[in-house]
Amino acid sequence: MDNLNNRTHSLFTTTISGDVGGEPTVLGENLTRLATTHSLAYLAGSLWLGKPLKSKKTEKAIDLALKLLVDHGPYVSGAVNTMITARAGRDLVSSLSSGLLTIGPRFGGAVNGAAKIWFDSVSNKLDPGEIVEDYAKRKVYIPGIGHRKYRLDIPDPRVPLLTSLIEGIPHPHLDFAVNVEKLTTAKKPNLILNVDGALAAVMLDLLTHEEKLDKDELKTLIESEFFNAIFVLSRSVGLIGHYLDQKRLGEPLFRLPDHDVFTP
Ligand code: ACO
Ligand code: LMR
Repeated sequence: MDNLNNRTHSLFTTTISGDVGGEPTVLGENLTRLATTHSLAYLAGSLWLGKPLKSKKTEKAIDLALKLLVDHGPYVSGAVNTMITARAGRDLVSSLSSGLLTIGPRFGGAVNGAAKIWFDSVSNKLDPGEIVEDYAKRKVYIPGIGHRKYRLDIPDPRVPLLTSLIEGIPHPHLDFAVNVEKLTTAKKPNLILNVDGALAAVMLDLLTHEEKLDKDELKTLIESEFFNAIFVLSRSVGLIGHYLDQKRLGEPLFRLPDHDVFTP
């Protein structure tokens, strides 16, 4: 009984990594072996799911998304915040964090919100029109729909590259998202299925069909914001690039010209 009473509780519990005989392990596998035999996409996807990826299709989609989303020009809000912070003399992590803190419901962080809508709607067999009307009535923007640059006549070249990866498997979530887009673009040409919305649908269909996740597992991923992870990891590469570029250029402290700010 004493042993039980004297048992000390561990401070942490983890399932994804450890150390065996002095060798770091990931999901029970020797990390140095995994690093020489698998891609970063495989490691990221497996670590984020908490179990090894089953399908090469999933790995390929994560790999492509990680590359497609690294940057989208110095114009976007996250990159601007990183550049401004770098020009204010701040360090790498502070400048990167400034850009990362911009990721949210409107910029880059709509993947998870879109995944929730696509998942809930397909699970409950809702009609795309119901969703579009409901959001319009509540004056709430549909996550995964709309873009400041792209529109029907200027499509986002990244979206078909991602969606083409799941042509060969059942894709009810992508079908739903595309049917929503048909309705929203009929209202306004810029209300296209954006890369956040497309990535959400592609990942849902892959996790369902290829990784064999059940509805409870998908719900848990949505509740923990899993679907935003790819954008965050990928765009960190571009934000670090913008920070280093500004430092290389020796760009001075940024200040908006008075005429660029409207004060009523
Ligand atoms: N759902 C429904 N209606 C929308 C949406 C949307 N997602 N986006 C814009 N609209 C409507 C607005 O209600 C407005 O209608 P109104 O003229 O009748 O008032 C009209 O479209 C224009 O609205 P704006 O805010 O000017 O549209 P803007 O082009 O500036 O918005 C944005 C672009 C910010 C991406 C917006 O579409 C949005 O917030 N979408 C949802 C969030 C999202 O998916 N973000 C990810 C973008 S891609 C990325 O970051 C990688
Ligand atoms: C994107 O990659 O689409 C985002 O950076 C948003 C944008 O306006 O480019």
